[in-house]
Amino acid sequence: MFMAVGRKILNLGCGSRFNLAHTNVDFISTHPSVRAWDLTEGIPFDDATFDLVYHSHLLEHFSAEAGQCFLRECARVLKPAGIIRMAVPDLEMIARAYLATLTDHFNDSPSGIANHSWMLLELYDQTVRTQPGGAMKQFLLAPELPNRDFIQQRVGSDALKISAAAKPGPRSLLRKLNALRRSGGSKRLYQKLAAGVVGGIAGLLLGRRGRRSFEQGWFRTGGEIHQTMYDYHALERVLRQAGFRGIVRRDHQTSYCAEWSSFFLDNEPNGLAYKPDSLYAEGLKP
Ligand SMILES: C[S@@+](CC[C@H](N)C(=O)[O-])C[C@H]1O[C@@H](n2cnc3c(N)ncnc32)[C@H](O)[C@@H]1O
Repeated sequence: MFMAVGRKILNLGCGSRFNLAHTNVDFISTHPSVRAWDLTEGIPFDDATFDLVYHSHLLEHFSAEAGQCFLRECARVLKPAGIIRMAVPDLEMIARAYLATLTDHFNDSPSGIANHSWMLLELYDQTVRTQPGGAMKQFLLAPELPNRDFIQQRVGSDALKISAAAKPGPRSLLRKLNALRRSGGSKRLYQKLAAGVVGGIAGLLLGRRGRRSFEQGWFRTGGEIHQTMYDYHALERVLRQAGFRGIVRRDHQTSYCAEWSSFFLDNEPNGLAYKPDSLYAEGLKP
C-alpha cells in the first residue's frame, strides 16, 4: 500500500527503539522525543490522528482485557484505512522451540541443557519474575554462556547486551540516581522514592509479607511483566474483535506500508530481524 508523504506514525511502548520522525510513547521516556504515558490509561491523542500505529513487544504486557481496550484505542486514533502493525513474542514458535530442546536435552551436552533451561525461561520467566530482569538476567550474567549463539538466534543480540554491560561491584547510590534521572526525569525519581516510603509503611503496618506484597505489586504494574501470550490465531481474533479488517501475518520486513523496512524498527540495517522471536501482524481500520 502506498502511504502519502507526511504520513503520521505512532510508536507505542517504543522503549529505546524509535524513529525521531515518528510520535513515540512509553511509560518511561528515554529521550526528549518520547512522551511518558501509561497506555493502560488510553492513548493520549485525538480520534483519527495517525496513518499507522505500531507497537512491538507491548501488547503482551497488558492483561487480555486491557489489551482489548488498548487495541480499540489504537483503532480510535487511526485514520480510516490506517494501518495497525504489531509484533509480540510468538507463543507457537516458543512452544515449538521448547519442545525441540527436550529432544536436545537427551544428549545431555552442556549446550543442550543450557538451551533447554533458556527455553523454560522464555516460556514463563517474564510472567512470574518479581525483580527487574528476573531469572533471565541471572542466566545471561553467568560467567560462561554455553549457548550464546542459540540465544542470539532466538531473541536477537539485545538480550546479550545485558551480559556485556554487566559491571562488577555494587553501583553507588549516586550512579543509581543518575541512571534513574536519565531514564525518566523527576517524575520517575519521585515515584521510585514514594514507592520506597509506602513499602516501608506497609512493612511497619503489615510486616515483611506486607512490604513484599506491595513491592511485588508495584513491580508487576511497572510495564516489565508479561500478562498474556499470543499465537497468530489469538492475535487475529483480538484484532478482529477490535474492529480491524485485512488482518495478515507479516515478517519483519513486509508491510502494507511500502517503506516500512526503511524505518529500521523491526529489521536491522543488515536485513536481519531485530527481535527474531516475534510474531508480526497487521490490520486495517475500515
Ligand atoms: C519489551 S519492551 C519493548 C520496547 C520496544 N518496543 C522494542 O521492541 O524494543 C516493552 C516496552 O513497553 C513499555 N510499556 C509496558 N507497559 C506500558 C504501559 N502501560 N504504558 C506505556 N508503556 C508501557 C515498557 O516501558 C517497555 O519500554
